[in-house]
Amino acid sequence: MDRTEHLLGLLLGTEEDWPRAFEELVRRLGPVSHDGADHTLRTERITIEPFDLRAKPTYHLVIDRLAYWYYVPREWLKKAALMDDVYLLNSPFTFQSMEKHAAYCAMIRLGLKVPDTWLVPYKNPVDNARYAYTAAKYNQPFDLDEIADSIGYPLYMKPYDGGAWRGVSRIRDDETLHHAYDESGEMLMHLQASVEPYDVFARSLTIGPDSMVMKFQPDQPMHNRYAVDHSFLSASAGEEVLTISRLINAFFRWEFNSCESLVLGESVHPIDYANACPDISITSLHYYFPWAIGTLLKWSVFCAVSGRRPRLDLDTRNYFAVADSDRTYDEKLTEYRRLADDYFETERYQDFCATSLSHVDSMVRDWVTSPAFDDLLVETVRSTYPASEHDRFVAHFRGLLGLWVADNA
Ligand SMILES: Nc1ncnc2c1ncn2[C@@H]1O[C@H](COP(=O)(O)OP(=O)(O)O)[C@@H](O)[C@H]1O
Ligand SMILES: [Mg+2]
Repeated sequence: MDRTEHLLGLLLGTEEDWPRAFEELVRRLGPVSHDGADHTLRTERITIEPFDLRAKPTYHLVIDRLAYWYYVPREWLKKAALMDDVYLLNSPFTFQSMEKHAAYCAMIRLGLKVPDTWLVPYKNPVDNARYAYTAAKYNQPFDLDEIADSIGYPLYMKPYDGGAWRGVSRIRDDETLHHAYDESGEMLMHLQASVEPYDVFARSLTIGPDSMVMKFQPDQPMHNRYAVDHSFLSASAGEEVLTISRLINAFFRWEFNSCESLVLGESVHPIDYANACPDISITSLHYYFPWAIGTLLKWSVFCAVSGRRPRLDLDTRNYFAVADSDRTYDEKLTEYRRLADDYFETERYQDFCATSLSHVDSMVRDWVTSPAFDDLLVETVRSTYPASEHDRFVAHFRGLLGLWVADNA
């Protein structure tokens, strides 16, 4: 492989908006100079087909939006990670699926304020011929009410590997508890203490070491969930959300993830920290969309061009050493931040952005004000909303993106 020509693979499902945006920005990028060489970058959409395990992929880096549900590309990604050193956002080894259970375990071990959480066995047995024998021999009967009482009402019941609010319910009493459990069927569920009333819901989109912490309004319709608000958290709570997001990503080697925390006073409670395929569509991120695509571009280019190697191994011991020390919570966060910055090479990345990618911010701004971007917006609105709503939503999103342009002038 020529080390100055880099192919960025996109493994996509149904999305069109952000991939078109990303492809356009890579086209506009031009050569990136680094260490005395000019690097060129190209994108390609990856197709799904039989593969020889010994075949050499041509991709330097892959942004994966598919493997969390589609297993052919998932197995191809594993091969590419193990055999070919392809840089993956994200590695299937750490993101087998949207598995928040492991994230809770890690965060509790690291001393973070995850609400009380239990895992309960399936309501309906798994489909396996050996189940009856095994269950008769080893499954303990359990009292669901007792567990719920020990957590306290209200609580949340939700799948251990959740995503997209599937199967999530707020449980206020034993009647709703049993109803929700009966409905859960073959899903494996957590019961989790509810953080309520909380002051604010912070959702951070993290790409490499960069995060955008956004005020999230879960009760609003999709287009209105992210509020444009730059000072909804105190400085210290804001830093804490940032640190926790970067920490959990570095811990698991997740490089493209969205993280959710409920903030009560100065106290930050993580509730959902494993989203392998974070929502970055223009109709939900609106104002924040240019940031997201620009940052995805910068981090991808850094990984492809700067010689950063993908890492499959975890160094949990270093994190646990901090967790087990007698440092205070704040001191631990400081140490975690150092470990996370070390993993992400934050300083080298910032340096790279300032030197090799110094033109990217203005390039993104030019593109957002271009007719091509407006076309993308209009087409996305047309394919997302019914005809009677097109005008209203086009005006709505144009307004928000205009605001972003003004704020970033
Ligand atoms: N412990 C909790 N306390 C308060 N609200 C919660 C809690 N857990 C979940 N929720 C609410 O339910 C929503 C969906 O739960 P979440 O864990 O984020 O699942 P998903 O992975 O499907 O997004 C959250 O956005 C939040 O509004
Ligand atoms: Mg969530």
